[in-house]
Amino acid sequence: MAQSPQYDREPPAQERRNYTDRMNQAYTRFAGLYAWAVRSLPVWKTWLRAVLPHIVGPRVLEASFGTGYLLTQYADRFEVSGIDYNERMVLIAGRELERKGLQADLFQADVANLPFQESFFDCIVNTMAFSGYPDGNQAMSEFRRVLRNGGRLLILDFDFPENGNCAGWSLTRLMQRSGDIIRDLRPLLAQHGFAFENRVIGGFGSVQLFIAHRGRLRISPRAVHR
Ligand SMILES: C[S@@+](CC[C@H](N)C(=O)[O-])C[C@H]1O[C@@H](n2cnc3c(N)ncnc32)[C@H](O)[C@@H]1O
Repeated sequence: MAQSPQYDREPPAQERRNYTDRMNQAYTRFAGLYAWAVRSLPVWKTWLRAVLPHIVGPRVLEASFGTGYLLTQYADRFEVSGIDYNERMVLIAGRELERKGLQADLFQADVANLPFQESFFDCIVNTMAFSGYPDGNQAMSEFRRVLRNGGRLLILDFDFPENGNCAGWSLTRLMQRSGDIIRDLRPLLAQHGFAFENRVIGGFGSVQLFIAHRGRLRISPRAVHR
C-alpha cells in the first residue's frame, strides 16, 4: 500500500525564535562549506537552474539567496533585490555578485518581516529555504503582501514524491531528520490566494518546483463574519 506523506506540524509559537537562531548559527558556521558544496555539486546547481526559465520581471525578489549562486545566473536581466537572514550569507553573495560585475540590492532580513512595500515585486524566487522557516503561514503572507496582483511566486523545495519513489522518499525524510520542516505547500498556497502548478525537478521526485500566481483573495461566504 502507498505510504501517505508525513508532513510536519508548525513548531509552537514560543519555539520559532529558537529554531531560527539555531539554524542561523549552523549557517554561520558552515557558510563556507555550503558555498563550496553548491559550487561543486552539479546536481544542486541543476535543480536551482530549473527556476530560471520561469522568472519574470522587471522587479524580482530572491528570498533566502544563501551564497547567491542563483542570483548570479539572472541578476543581469532584472531589477533584483534579495534578503537572507544570515549575515555571512549576505557577505558571501555580495562578494560573488561583485566578482562577476553584477548588481543586486541585498539586505539582511527575516522572511517573516520583509522590508518592502506592498505589491512591489513582479516575481519572488525562493529555493531550498521554505522548509527552514518556522512559520510557513507568516512567510507566505509576506510573499503575498510584497507581490503584485498577478505576480509570480517560485518555490523550489523538498517534498514527498507523489509516485512514492523510495529513494526520493528517503531524501525528504533525511531533510526532515536534519531539522527541515516539510510541509504540504498546496493548501498553504491556496489559503493565501495563489493558483499554482507543481513540477518534479529531480531527487527521484523529491525536489519540486511550485509555480504560483497571486490572485485576489476570494473569501468564501462562510468565512465572512457579520
Ligand atoms: C538551504 S539554504 C538555501 C540557499 C539558496 N537559496 C540555495 O538554494 O542554495 C537556506 C537559506 O535560508 C536562509 N534563512 C533561514 N531562515 C531564514 C529567515 N527566517 N529569513 C530569511 N532567510 C532565512 C538561510 O540563512 C540560508 O541562507
